[in-house]
Amino acid sequence: MNNYTPITDLKNHIGEEVSLAGWVYKNRPTGKLIFLMLRDGTGLCQCVIEKGDASAAYFDDAKHLYQEASVVVRGTVRADERAAGGCEVDVTGLEIVHNAPGYPITPKPHGVEFLMQHRHLWFRSRRQFLILRIRATLVDAIRQYFNSQGFVLIDTPIFAPSAGEGASTLFEVDYFGEPVYLAQTGQLYVESACMAHGKVYCFGPTFRAEKSKTRRHLTEFWMVEPEIAYAALDDVIDCAEDFVCSVVQRVLTDHRADLEELGRDVAELERIQKPFVRLKYMEAADLLRGPRAKELLEKDLAEKNARIAELEKEIPDLEEKSKSAAKQWQKDKAAQQAIACREELAELQEQVSNIPHHMELAAHFQVGTDLGGSDETIISRLHDRPVFVTHYPREVKAFYMRQDRENPGLVENFDLLAPEGFGEVIGGSAREEDYDRLLARLKEEGLPQEPYEWYLDLRRYGSVPHGGFGLGVERTLAWLCGLKHIRETIPFARMLGNVYP
Ligand code: 4AD
Ligand code: MG
Repeated sequence: MNNYTPITDLKNHIGEEVSLAGWVYKNRPTGKLIFLMLRDGTGLCQCVIEKGDASAAYFDDAKHLYQEASVVVRGTVRADERAAGGCEVDVTGLEIVHNAPGYPITPKPHGVEFLMQHRHLWFRSRRQFLILRIRATLVDAIRQYFNSQGFVLIDTPIFAPSAGEGASTLFEVDYFGEPVYLAQTGQLYVESACMAHGKVYCFGPTFRAEKSKTRRHLTEFWMVEPEIAYAALDDVIDCAEDFVCSVVQRVLTDHRADLEELGRDVAELERIQKPFVRLKYMEAADLLRGPRAKELLEKDLAEKNARIAELEKEIPDLEEKSKSAAKQWQKDKAAQQAIACREELAELQEQVSNIPHHMELAAHFQVGTDLGGSDETIISRLHDRPVFVTHYPREVKAFYMRQDRENPGLVENFDLLAPEGFGEVIGGSAREEDYDRLLARLKEEGLPQEPYEWYLDLRRYGSVPHGGFGLGVERTLAWLCGLKHIRETIPFARMLGNVYP
């Protein structure tokens, strides 16, 4: 460790002399004072440099510190109620470690493509900092939950000899001349482990060759997959419900202020309490085709069109102001607002152009097909709590799902839809424990038997009812932080057309 005081600890050092090591977040020099906003990875603190004999050696250099210059600051901590974190530092010494002229990410708005290409630097921006901190807590909460409930961690392989989910999203790798695949799931392996340990989970990266760019899909994402022996569908759903409530509570407890800073309405997360809604697929289909779905989308359309009209009036005014305002800062502010309004307008126009299609899809939803992204959004928005949708048609779901004994056309599965339109965050099921039925399903799917012999063994020797689920970390984090797009929820996003840096 080093001997610098973390900014978060400054409140315990009021009146003391400390050394801080960090980066310049903002530099605001005036004639006699320089206000350096410093960030150090734990927080933000304003450091004040006064012009005088004591600062003569560094005052002029400090004026020319750019955003993201690295500096070591010595100074006295002073309580200041107005300051974020409750204190400021009066500087008594400054060492410039490395200046940063031309730092590419400025407080001005940048396009998201540019930011993704500069992800290695974008990390330092406040929003990204907050999101990845919350991610670390979410990951910890997930591990803590399963460890405390008696689940045994089983690390599953990343090189897999066969498909775990749909064959269309496999990444093939040359394994010494043999084709193998990057794991789409650890599930088949935790199924074997639960027969040894009872309750197990795996937690690691998974890969899907998703060929479309959507706000919900990554090609590399992290998934936690618990698996429970001697469990029926309802047991697995109960587990998922308790688990989700527990991790949401933990994130709320540890990150309320961060979530608020991200603009998240935390009241929406406070509402995440048991029991969640449980709907059968057929009921979900009726909802989609019924009057409430239609009303919801018609209301959306009206509201969004009204906002578009407002923006179309506001933008020219702002653009005019950005040229004619009396002061430069007023011009800058108006220019920024105009850019933000234009972005909002473009987004609304795109949404409005999609709504008729989404209405069409919902109204004519075909029983026997999978729920689409827009269908999930509608169902989740029609409820104020998370929704479990269960008992999907067999044909649209994976081969390993347990056949509903009363309705052989259905499987005992569930998806958990997060509220506010965030869509599916969990997929799970009871597993087919019967050898003959499982083999028939493999054949029906056109999958070869040989690579699954080991998996069939689990149904040859002491097979029991069992089940589990997979929760995607990034989708869950997008929901918790209220992010529209999944790309900001993982340190270095991998998507179609995106592998740099
Ligand atoms: O519904 P999925 O495909 O289920 C499985 O993989 C099962 N084997 C899990 C199990 O029963 N053990 O994926 C589970 C979750 C989804 O609900 C979603 O949160 C996430 O994984 N997910 C993705 N996240 C980001 N990008 C993608 N391309 C994702 N595909 C799935
Ligand atoms: Mg799924």
